[in-house]
Amino acid sequence: MMIRLDKYLADMGLGTRSEIKKEIRKGSVSVNGVSACRPETKIDTDHDEITFRGESVAYVKYEYYMLNKPAGVVSATTDRQETTVLELIKERKRDGLFPVGRLDKDTEGLLLLTNDGGLAHRLLSPKKHVDKVYFARINGRVTGTDVENFARGVDIGDDRPTLPAELDVCSSGEYSEVRLTIHEGRFHQVKRMFQAVGKEVIYLKRLQMGTLSLDKSLKPGEYRRLTEEEVERLCSQGRKL
Ligand code: URA
Repeated sequence: MMIRLDKYLADMGLGTRSEIKKEIRKGSVSVNGVSACRPETKIDTDHDEITFRGESVAYVKYEYYMLNKPAGVVSATTDRQETTVLELIKERKRDGLFPVGRLDKDTEGLLLLTNDGGLAHRLLSPKKHVDKVYFARINGRVTGTDVENFARGVDIGDDRPTLPAELDVCSSGEYSEVRLTIHEGRFHQVKRMFQAVGKEVIYLKRLQMGTLSLDKSLKPGEYRRLTEEEVERLCSQGRKL
């Protein structure tokens, strides 16, 4: 792919286009070993060697991160008041990263961050019914009747009931623990499903989205890049759906 030098460096998260233009003019950038002074220089992303302040900068078209979202941060790219999930990615990151879908501020767990709009679209499309698996702690006794209701689909106040969902009860008592698999992603869906059967979600964590499972070694707030295999599986699932 051929792109301008300043866009190349901005895409790779080295600064805004205007900051980068200044750096290029200062002589901080070289192309194939030769100092570059024109931001509009055309770069072949597959073959040219770019360095910024002496460090090689390879061009990566797409980046994929798995974040164990902690409670207290919002699933947005910017926010005037709240910490965003993007701010948790501390290393230099590719421009254009965004969270694929939203988890509520108080929800923890698996969140995919990428700049791959095509994949995000396929994973979020209501027509594709990508599975999402959650662990939840419920204030109240979850019963076999709840399991049956969820398996039929419940009325959560939208124009149509939810799709059938699989509810596995891990423990049931004054407080219950469950695993819930849903096949759509409506606003506050899990909380509203339990509300519809007279119960309250007091803790919610996403464990899985499509073929991607939360890496158990990631503590809340920690993240890692997806492996090539994880990316390949997600992308091929997205293509098949
Ligand atoms: N369902 C909810 O109610 N909240 C979330 O964050 C995700 C699914």
